[in-house]
Amino acid sequence: MAAPTTGPLSCRRKGPLRGAISVPGDKSISHRALLFGALSTGETRVTGLLDAEDVHSTRKAVERLGATVSTSDGEVVVVPPERLREPDDVIDCGNSGTSLRLLTGVLAGIPGLSVLTGDASLRRRPVRRVIEPLRRMGANLSARDGDRLPPVVVRGGPLRATRHVLEVASAQVKSACLLAGLFAEGETSVTEPERSRDHTERMLRGMGVPVRTDGLTVSVGPSRPRGGRVDVPGDISSGAFFLCAAAAAPGSEVTVRGLGVNPTRTGILDVLAAMGAGLTLANEREVAGEPRADVTVRAAELRGTEIRGAIIPRLIDELPVVMVMATQARGRTVIRDAKELRVKESDRLAAMGETLAAAGARIELFEDGCAIDGPTPLRGVAVRTRLDHRIAMSMAIAQLFAGGEEVLLDDVACVATSFPSFFDLLDALVGARP
Ligand code: S3P
Repeated sequence: MAAPTTGPLSCRRKGPLRGAISVPGDKSISHRALLFGALSTGETRVTGLLDAEDVHSTRKAVERLGATVSTSDGEVVVVPPERLREPDDVIDCGNSGTSLRLLTGVLAGIPGLSVLTGDASLRRRPVRRVIEPLRRMGANLSARDGDRLPPVVVRGGPLRATRHVLEVASAQVKSACLLAGLFAEGETSVTEPERSRDHTERMLRGMGVPVRTDGLTVSVGPSRPRGGRVDVPGDISSGAFFLCAAAAAPGSEVTVRGLGVNPTRTGILDVLAAMGAGLTLANEREVAGEPRADVTVRAAELRGTEIRGAIIPRLIDELPVVMVMATQARGRTVIRDAKELRVKESDRLAAMGETLAAAGARIELFEDGCAIDGPTPLRGVAVRTRLDHRIAMSMAIAQLFAGGEEVLLDDVACVATSFPSFFDLLDALVGARP
């Protein structure tokens, strides 16, 4: 019987994990392919687009703005309108922070009124970080709770180029500013404290927009992308669940084929290597401006490590499953400078800290991270998934280290936001005995 896709789910699996798989397309790149395609002068053809709820939210949004999105022979075709138009209803971004923040940047430059909202998780996530810089460009926007939380109301109009200096390394904020910059007179630049993922810069360049990068500063001028072809690699944030599980479950060996290995995303591979996992990359190549490789991880005696500073934005979404892996490593793993985890789909530090502690992990929480001592055998636990896909999937992986005991996830509907085939792939890997 197929696993339920909504409501509670009991997990009871045993390692090792063995086999070669592909994971669905990268979520960040998928959002951008639809959105930049909708902004373009010509059509965009996308292969490997992630078919999951977050990306459906972006698709529905760009359709409301006048783009046509169709699928034929496994290719998604985005046909942009002459000019994006004022939406005739509220735009519901569901669970997707990327949809909401990137769209805010675009809508700031489009004449008309737009309202952006989302589910209960998204309506608790901060938006001042995009409102303030966009206001400096002359944008007219406001949000609930003193401009802190969605819904966001945007009255699009003329924008002026601005030099932004960001306090947090956030690809969503950087992208919102750069997208608004495409509509502004003069050069808009964004300087980050650390380098965040650069998919926006790569894809805009691939679509003919001159984007300059100088150290931690990225700039654009007024321009319109021309569209083109996008081939989306596998999402390293999805592959990470299996790579971390394989590193820690004795006897495992997992290959994820065609995984995106953009250097702004590969902090997880650096951590796997630092913790002593067997790691190899094969068949490395660049397709449509994004590097990819077949990544193999073999189980090993893991050791604790320190994860802080510039690596954090390069693995921010993988930290929940890194916390699980750290419970199985010898010694202390320390994660710092990761305060951003508290404003993701849930407060991931609190969620993982409480849940792993209830499962028997030795974990100390800080405002910006945690320390985990291992190795510790885990035990069964009931998990509140909090509308957060990565909490649900990380705890399904934690169950592999619970000596056959049950991990009960209270609601797995959230997994469909990024990775609907997660449980099927996990079953395939634990079932595939040599
Ligand atoms: C994303 C950027 C990151 C990441 C999110 C996707 C993107 O968020 O956590 O899952 O596609 O730009 P921040 O920009 O808030 O760090």
